[in-house]
Amino acid sequence: MEEPGYYGVDGALAAVGANKVAVPADEEGFHLEAALQRSGNARLALLTPSRNYPMGYTLSLARRLALLNWAREQDAWIIEDDYDSEFRFDGPPLTSLQGLSGGERVIYMGTFSRILHPSIRLGYLVLPEVLTEPFSQVRAYVDGGLSSLPQIALADFMASGDFASHVRRMRKLYQQRRDILNTLAEQRFGDQLLRVESDGGMHSTFIFRDDLNISDRDLAAAAQARGWGYGHYLIFIPPAKGRRES
Ligand SMILES: Cc1ncc(COP(=O)(O)O)c(C=O)c1O
Repeated sequence: MEEPGYYGVDGALAAVGANKVAVPADEEGFHLEAALQRSGNARLALLTPSRNYPMGYTLSLARRLALLNWAREQDAWIIEDDYDSEFRFDGPPLTSLQGLSGGERVIYMGTFSRILHPSIRLGYLVLPEVLTEPFSQVRAYVDGGLSSLPQIALADFMASGDFASHVRRMRKLYQQRRDILNTLAEQRFGDQLLRVESDGGMHSTFIFRDDLNISDRDLAAAAQARGWGYGHYLIFIPPAKGRRES
C-alpha cells in the first residue's frame, strides 16, 4: 500500500490477517521497485492510481505498465481503488489500470460517496471474470447483499441521462470551489504553507514550509473561522516530527 495512503482500509486488512507493507509514493505514485525491495513475495497491491490520498499524486503510465507486468508474472492481484477520481479538472481523462489490463489481475473499485453523497452507501467492483463467482459467494456470507431500492433508483438516474449531466454540472461547480479556495488559502497562508499540485478531487493538500513553529490545528481553526472547508476541504500536513500526534 501507498504511504501516505488511505488508512481506512487497515482494519479490513488486519481482519483477514494480511500483512500491510507501506510503500513510498512520490509524484509518479506507487513505487513498484521500492515495494519489491520491502516485500518480494507480495500477492496483492492495493493502491489509488488516479489520485493518491492525501497527496493527490497520479500513477504514471510507465509505472502502470510495470505494475501490470508484475501482477501477470507473479499471478498477483491489484486492487485499484478509484475513490475520488470522478472529478478530474485538469488534463484529459485517465485510462484506468483495469482498462489497461485486458480484464485480468485488476480488481477495480469505487463508491458513489463523492459523486453523489456518502449517505447513499453504494459502491461497486469491476472484477476479472474468474473472481465474479467467489466474490458473489463471499458477499452473500458478509451481509446477504444490499437493499435493491437505492440500486434501482440509481440505475434509473443513470439510464435517464441525468446522472451524466449531474456529473458535468458538479465538475464545473467543484472546480470553481477548488480554484477559489486555493486562491484564498494561498493569499492567507502562502508564506506558511506550500500547496501540493493536484489535477482534481474534492480536497486540497498543503504542507508546512520547513521550520515553522505553528500548529496544524491552529491553522485548521483559522480556516474554519473563515468558513472554509465546506464542499471542498483543506488538508494541512505538518512537518514529519509533528505528524503522529496531529
Ligand atoms: C481512498 C479511499 N478509498 C475508499 C474510501 C471509502 O469510501 P466510502 O466512504 O464511500 O466507503 C475512502 C473514504 O474516504 C477513501 O479515501
